[in-house]
Amino acid sequence: MYWTKKHVMVCTAVHCNQKGAMDVAGRLRLAVLRKGVDADILVNNCGTIDLCDCGPNIVVYPDNVIYNGVTVKDIPEIMTHLEGGPVVERLVLSATSEDEVRRKGYYAEALSREGGLPPDEADALAATHGFDDQWIAEQLRRGFMARKPHPDSGEDRIQVTKKAKDRYSP
Ligand code: FES
Repeated sequence: MYWTKKHVMVCTAVHCNQKGAMDVAGRLRLAVLRKGVDADILVNNCGTIDLCDCGPNIVVYPDNVIYNGVTVKDIPEIMTHLEGGPVVERLVLSATSEDEVRRKGYYAEALSREGGLPPDEADALAATHGFDDQWIAEQLRRGFMARKPHPDSGEDRIQVTKKAKDRYSP
């Protein structure tokens, strides 16, 4: 066993994979090999990191950098970073990134609705933040929201879970 200088985790779970993550992982691994830096930079595939709507995502350790929306075209710049150059700021996902701000906005409004949102209102609210009903479905699958009956009416409601509160509360 040895310790690399950088460890790169490429999410190749379903949603990232649908957007080309396997190509990104394969090409990145190839670039590392071609440059002869595979002893210093280890590239692994990994399962979801719960940012499925903005993938393909990769995480770089020990830098603690998350790149989102990565394509094979971004690999030369990412390689520069991995070899000691600057972080590729335009790909960085941070608390102030547009995607994160939109998610935070959705959850802040959804949380203000006691008892949760009827599904059609959840879809409408998502739309105002630039998300579609597929995004709602994905957030439900990832455990950021849950479908539960309203305590009084028993009607279907989309509720924000503790996982989302912990992640998106100010
Ligand atoms: S599939 Fe990649 S973050 Fe979920």
